[in-house]
Amino acid sequence: MTQIVAHRGYSAAFSENTMTAFFEAEKAGADGIELDVQLTKDGEVVVIHDEKVDRTTSGSGFVKDFPYKELRKLNANKKGIKKEPIPALAEVLEWLKGNELICNIELKNGMFRYEGMEEKVIELIRRYELSDRIILSSFNHYSIVYCYRLAPEIETAPLYVEGIYMPWVYAQSIRAKGIHPKLAAAPDEIIQSALKNNIAVRPFTVNQEDEMRRLYQVNCTALITDDPVKALRIRKQAAKRP
Ligand code: G3P
Ligand code: CA
Repeated sequence: MTQIVAHRGYSAAFSENTMTAFFEAEKAGADGIELDVQLTKDGEVVVIHDEKVDRTTSGSGFVKDFPYKELRKLNANKKGIKKEPIPALAEVLEWLKGNELICNIELKNGMFRYEGMEEKVIELIRRYELSDRIILSSFNHYSIVYCYRLAPEIETAPLYVEGIYMPWVYAQSIRAKGIHPKLAAAPDEIIQSALKNNIAVRPFTVNQEDEMRRLYQVNCTALITDDPVKALRIRKQAAKRP
């Protein structure tokens, strides 16, 4: 069955990459969550999509210029009423210990390299003994290979936007167990060939009902969506069809 992974948590209805968005994704019945990580000035791994805090919080400036203590004072719950801090990755992993969700951690190390980020993320995953429920992804494929070298027991998956020729061959060449293509780069033939070659496929970001149906039809490994409630409803309908 195609898994439903809530993109930045249940971000269609709650502030992205907040604990509330993750709790609500689980409550909705998602199979997993996706989140983004950056590093603070003092090297804490924090969960936020942009390099800057401006769009999603009450503050302004680069994440990398904030000490963790200062960053925690910002409100990341712009859609909600109650104030909520930017989560530390450790906080999310601690919560994951109490459920069975899978978690796709996207390393946001394209603009800034964040030296040492891979080691820190892997240390946390190992500390919480979550290696078998985590998928590490990044648009920075050098980082993906580095993660594999540091921790071959943790699944990796390259993110990409434009079509790659035979992406399952590419994935195998970098020892990744999956691929995370932008939806437009994931036609049926690519998904089917990747699956035949034992490469998992998790396209992003899948919010339209017809695209969800198509992915369920080809038995895609997972879809990454802002709206897990919609994805669950369509999955139930698809399962009833002969
Ligand atoms: O993991 C897929 C997706 O999250 C990648 O794009 O910009 O939403 O992080 P973005
Ligand atoms: Ca992401």
